[in-house]
Order: sequence, then structure tokens, then C-alpha cells
Amino acid sequence: MIRSTLLVLALSLASVRAQSPVFGQCGGENWPGPFTCVAGSVVSPGLLRPPPPVTSTVSSTTSTVKSTTSTVTSATSTASVPVSTAFVKTSGMKFTLNGAPYTLVGSNAYWLPLMGSSTGYSSADLNTAFNDIVGSGATTVRTWGFNEVTTTSGGVPYLHLWSGSTATVNTAATGLGSLDNVIAAAKAHGIRLIVTLTNNWSDYGGMDVYTAQILGSGQFHDLFYTNPTVIAAFKTYVQTVVTRYANEPTIMAWELANEPRCAGSNTVASPTCNTTTITTWASNISAFIKSIDKNHLVAIGDEGFFNEPGSHNFDFVYQGTLGIDFAANMQISTLDFGTFHMYPESWGENADVEAWGVQWITDHATVMASANKPAIMEEFGITDSNRSTTYASWYSTVVSTGLTGDLIWQAGSTLSGGPTPNDGYMIFPTDPVYQLIKSHAAALKARG
Ligand SMILES: *[C@@H]1O[C@H](CO)[C@@H](O)[C@H](O)[C@H]1NC(C)=O
Ligand SMILES: *[C@@H]1O[C@H](CO)[C@@H](O)[C@H](O)[C@H]1NC(C)=O
Ligand SMILES: *[C@@H]1O[C@H](CO)[C@@H](O)[C@H](O)[C@H]1NC(C)=O
Ligand SMILES: *[C@@H]1O[C@H](CO)[C@@H](O)[C@H](O)[C@H]1NC(C)=O
Repeated sequence: MIRSTLLVLALSLASVRAQSPVFGQCGGENWPGPFTCVAGSVVSPGLLRPPPPVTSTVSSTTSTVKSTTSTVTSATSTASVPVSTAFVKTSGMKFTLNGAPYTLVGSNAYWLPLMGSSTGYSSADLNTAFNDIVGSGATTVRTWGFNEVTTTSGGVPYLHLWSGSTATVNTAATGLGSLDNVIAAAKAHGIRLIVTLTNNWSDYGGMDVYTAQILGSGQFHDLFYTNPTVIAAFKTYVQTVVTRYANEPTIMAWELANEPRCAGSNTVASPTCNTTTITTWASNISAFIKSIDKNHLVAIGDEGFFNEPGSHNFDFVYQGTLGIDFAANMQISTLDFGTFHMYPESWGENADVEAWGVQWITDHATVMASANKPAIMEEFGITDSNRSTTYASWYSTVVSTGLTGDLIWQAGSTLSGGPTPNDGYMIFPTDPVYQLIKSHAAALKARG
């Protein structure tokens, strides 16, 4: 999520709220300026275990990947990481932990590692945020493991700094150190994390920063999925993050990207992009992650569109035109579970939002059953003031269809600097929906 209309709202909120300069800096979908949502230039050690910085010179693809591999390998072998076998696994359509069913339920909170200060939120703020999340009955939270920048002046953590076509992963306290803190707080609260590695949208940089920096501005968005130099640069970033946490069971899963599509925020699709483009890319990148991290589950992080041209009265989310084929992607052996999102209002499915959502959930549960693999509704939301009624119906559909689990978009907390920026979907503990999440979490845990 994070759409232009929401960013307008976020921008207006950011103007009166000092702790969220990122929105004021890098705007979002229609932001005309450069990518400048970044942090201060102070470099200090990451709080858990900073490996040496990894620089990728993407003009020399093969040698770059090789040198990155050796750097990351040596960093991993010398780190004192607590090794645990308690990773979340899958069994048929379920998740398991230590052989027992693991109920996936909770929320998104993309902001956890990316706001607060140049080193992220304080431990007190993270404690508040995770207390709120735990209080809703959540077991799982999805957050962002990326922030592509070209300058370091935004006062918030940045993870991947670009200078021309060269990118450096920021392993310091101003970078992955912030994610380290989020992971430590999640662990202390018994919460598992799904961490997403880039964005289709331009928020926090995303795919178009890779293509613009390496190939020049104005490129087709889908060159992110097909250009070998861009793929190598993304793999270098992925390798650094994934190997840093390869033995960390607090991370439940890696996700390749938030909402990959053929088109980007400010960039269009090439004439040849179709569902095969992203299915091939997802297969390739997920296989790469599996080759360097045997512990964690992997998923795409997509919106779960169907490729059934002509079906459902030509409803666009079923036509395959956006580049996603949910059923085909469920067959990729190196992807452990399927993902889908649901925003009927902003997708123009307004005739009967509740009924449309019930059908969307049911259709994904059907594919889940035929693939015999978990599937989760990992983002959903409406901004209707009466959303509790609609959410209750959708939650009951999740339970009754056997869908593996769900994460609402999204958790909000009131921290030391004020409330987290509200994009119109946030659920603060005072919201009636917060109690609804709690009762739904109990129902899902009881269902097993
Ligand atoms: C990806 O970015 C493009 C540009 O906004 C946009 O058309 C598409 O809707 C974005 N994807 C998602 C998930 O919104
Ligand atoms: C996508 O296009 C390629 C040719 O560019 C074609 O081989 C492939 O079958 C197409 N995929 C789908 C799902 O239509
Ligand atoms: C991914 O693609 C690269 C080149 O584009 C290829 O060398 C590699 O073998 C592929 N890996 C997988 C696992 O498909
Ligand atoms: C909320 O939605 C339900 C179901 O659509 C409807 O019956 C009810 O009248 C709505 N309440 C308000 C206050 O709009």
C-alpha cells in the first residue's frame, strides 16, 4: 500500500510532525523531486552485529557478485549469532513452529525501522509499538527491509545508498542497525517478522531507483525484472540483508518486493512485460535466496492478481494485465506461500465492497487448496468510517474458507513524538477495529 492519495494525506500530516520527515522528503508516487528521503551521515556501529559495508559496482556484474559473496560469507562465519532451529515452516496449507501449528495473524507496520531518528526509533518507542501489536493478539508483523536513497539528509535510517550506478548497503546504526533494533524488539515480544526487500512504488526508493541509477531515468519499470545488471545489483542487496539475518528465527519470511507490477510509480511498462516476466523473476530471485539461506520462508509480496482473461466481467484484477498470475506463482517451488492484497475502494471495486472482498478471499483460498501451500491476505483495508462491519465479514470469510492467515494494513501507535503518521488505514489501540483484530486472532488460533 501507499498510494498517491494517501501520500497527499501523509504529506499534510508530515508538515506538522517532525518525526516523519521521510514523507516530506521523498513525497511518493507523484513526487517530482529527487529521491532524498534519507538520514544523517554519521556512521556508527550497528547495534547487533554490523558486517563490513558491501559496495556493488554494478558496471561489472560478474566480478561484483563474486566479491560480494566472499565479503558476506566471511562476515557470516565470524559473527556470533544465536542459532536456533525454531524457524517457522510450512506443512500443507499451514505454517508450523516446532511441529505445532503457527497461526499467522497480525498487521503491517512498514514504519518500524524507517522513522523516529537517523538511527530509527528508540527502544522505548519500539517497546510501545510492539506492546500495542501484541495487545491486538498478533503473532506476525510485516515491515520494510529497504530504503533506497541517493543522498543522506533526511534524518531517518537509509539502507541502500546510491552514487551513480554504485550502491552501498548501509550496515551502520543509521541503516541495518535500525532493522537490528526492530528485530530485537520483535523477539523480546514474541513476534515474528515478514521482511520485504524492495518496493514497486517509489516510496522509500524501490525498483525505479535501481533502473534509474544503473540505466538512466525514464526506463521501462519492468527492466528491474529483466536487465542482468539491475538483477545483479538487487541480488547484491538481497544477499547482504539475507545473510546478515540468516540464523535469526525472529524473521519468519523474506519477501521479494512489495506489490511488484509491470508498471512503476513514475515509469511505464514495456510492451513485452506480461505475467511471465514477473513469474520468471520471482522464480529466479527466490531460488537465489534459498541458495544462501536455508532457514527462512520466501514469498513474493504481491497483490495476488489473477491471469484469467475474460473472466469476472473483465474486472481488471483478474485479467493478468498488471503482470501477476497468482495461480502460476503458487507453483514456484522456491516460494513457500502465496500472498495477496485487497483494496476494493482504491481498485474501483465499489459496487459492493464487502461482497467483492468475500469473493476475492474465496478465490484465493480455492487456489491455495489446489496448490496445497499456505496463502495469506497480507494487506487489506478500506477507509470507510464504518469499516468494522466490513472487516468483521472479511475476517469471518478468512476463518470459514480455511485461508491460512491475514495481516491488516496497518498498525499505528502513539510514540514519544506523537502518533505514527496515519495514512487513513492505521489502527490505533483506541480504534474499535483493534478489538476486532483481537477477537479475530483468537478465532483463527482456535481454528488451527
Ligand atoms: C506500481 O507502481 C505503479 C505506479 O504507480 C502503479 O501504476 C502501480 O499501481 C504501482 N503498483 C502498485 C502496487 O500500485
Ligand atoms: C509473455 O510474452 C512472451 C513473449 O514475449 C511469451 O512467450 C509468453 O508466453 C507470454 N506469457 C503469457 C502468460 O502470456
Ligand atoms: C537467474 O538468472 C541468472 C541470469 O539472468 C542466471 O544466471 C541464473 O542461473 C538464474 N538463476 C536461477 C535460480 O534461475
Ligand atoms: C455500516 O455498514 C453496515 C453494513 O453495510 C450497515 O448495515 C450499517 O448501517 C452501517 N452503519 C453506518 C453507521 O453507516
